Amino acid sequence: MFGVGSPDARLMFVGEGPGADEDEQGEPFVGRAGQLLTQIIKAMGLAREDVYIANVVKCRPPGNRNPEQDEIEACSPFLHAQIAAIRPTVIVALGKFAAQTLLQTETPISRLRGQFHALGEVAVMPTFHPSYLLRNPAAKREVWEDMKLVMKRLDEPA
Ligand code: URA
Repeated sequence: MFGVGSPDARLMFVGEGPGADEDEQGEPFVGRAGQLLTQIIKAMGLAREDVYIANVVKCRPPGNRNPEQDEIEACSPFLHAQIAAIRPTVIVALGKFAAQTLLQTETPISRLRGQFHALGEVAVMPTFHPSYLLRNPAAKREVWEDMKLVMKRLDEPA
């Protein structure tokens, strides 16, 4: 599955991989977690068309299992090519797999979130995955804190 959004996006979201709904519709983040992501984007004063949305793994892991290391490695060159083509100012890494893959670390998402991490020229903000927020709505507060930092960074002159 390819990414969607603006080729000029200054903000890019990277998720884990397509689920059943995404697999069916051929577009990332269109299921329940996707609807929550769309709400988060709107709350930031943006629309899905303004940003770029991609995933770490490009094919749906069967039965919604977690992506395996060899699958992540096989898809990584495509993700890095997407980042190089879009050249965003900020990447929001949604959940453990996106954050750990982009930052090449095993640090848990709960410790990575809340601050920017450099990926070359790009500022990466790890935050909780929208699927996690569906199970743990209380964590929306932390995600919103993270998104406020992202909005502030996007407002700063380049
Ligand atoms: N979850 C993801 O990580 N990516 C999608 O595209 C949909 C749900």
